[in-house]
Amino acid sequence: MHTRVAIIGAGAVGASCAYALALNGSCSEIILYDIVPDIAIGKAIDIAQSTHYSQRGTRIRAVSKPSDIEGCDIVVITAGVPRKKDMTRADLLKINAGIVKEIALNVKRYSPDAMIISVSNPLDVMNYVVHRVTGWDRSRVIGMSGALDGARMAYEIYKKAGFGATQISTMVIGEHGENMIPYPKMSHIDGININSLLTPEEIREVVENTKNGGANIVKHLKTSAYYAPGRAIAIMVEAILNDENRVVASSVVLEGEYGYSGVSIGVPIMLGYNGVKTIFEMPLEEDIAEQFDSAVKSIKANIAILERENFFD
Ligand code: LAC
Repeated sequence: MHTRVAIIGAGAVGASCAYALALNGSCSEIILYDIVPDIAIGKAIDIAQSTHYSQRGTRIRAVSKPSDIEGCDIVVITAGVPRKKDMTRADLLKINAGIVKEIALNVKRYSPDAMIISVSNPLDVMNYVVHRVTGWDRSRVIGMSGALDGARMAYEIYKKAGFGATQISTMVIGEHGENMIPYPKMSHIDGININSLLTPEEIREVVENTKNGGANIVKHLKTSAYYAPGRAIAIMVEAILNDENRVVASSVVLEGEYGYSGVSIGVPIMLGYNGVKTIFEMPLEEDIAEQFDSAVKSIKANIAILERENFFD
């Protein structure tokens, strides 16, 4: 079967995602789009040459016109600017919302049957923007958050425990940002809850380090992470193309689940061929429910900034 995935933004995250997909031969064709055409062209050539050693072939093509993003099964949106020194979060929000809106409208026009995976930050708000401007069913608009944050939490657990690599399952919900909620009660090493394997102090550190996972990498690299984000996007792409019915926390628009609507936020979902097949409503402990409420308020405050600017009109 022919499967085409477009990646919008051929920066480090987009290119790492393309590379992860090409290593696995996850789709038959990858389209790389960047507003700087040479970036997309150079990286497409480099990644295409790497496929010589992959198990399955993948065609990789750089494109430069929005109309080239056509006939895609999945479009991954990574485009956006990082925060600069004298920029407020609200400034960044408005700039990236504008970029994401334009891309989403082009995707709607040229790939009307696609599924969109949002990656640009602030992630939850951007996924909401995609949902609103396309008007697509929320099952086709999914933000990559828990797949990455859960991998970061597993890394932190493994660092403390020293065993169980690849056997760790985690749950991170809420905002992909300051109000992220790593959930120890839902995190296990081969079924053993981490509460009985780590001390309360170690668990507190796991939670804090997970929340700071992205910022910690920025501190060292002066730029944001890309290998783990790229891989996390790839597993979501594969879950959709292979109809895996994979359970993975992701940012989705709520319509009453957990008592909220009009917001996109990280919750556990089932991901398969039609996108979001189920949103799981887990019972939340009291303190987690409070954190979830703060996360909703924070994301909604950002959406309200856009509403005030008549962004959605
Ligand atoms: C991060 C970006 C990719 O968390 O959102 O590193």
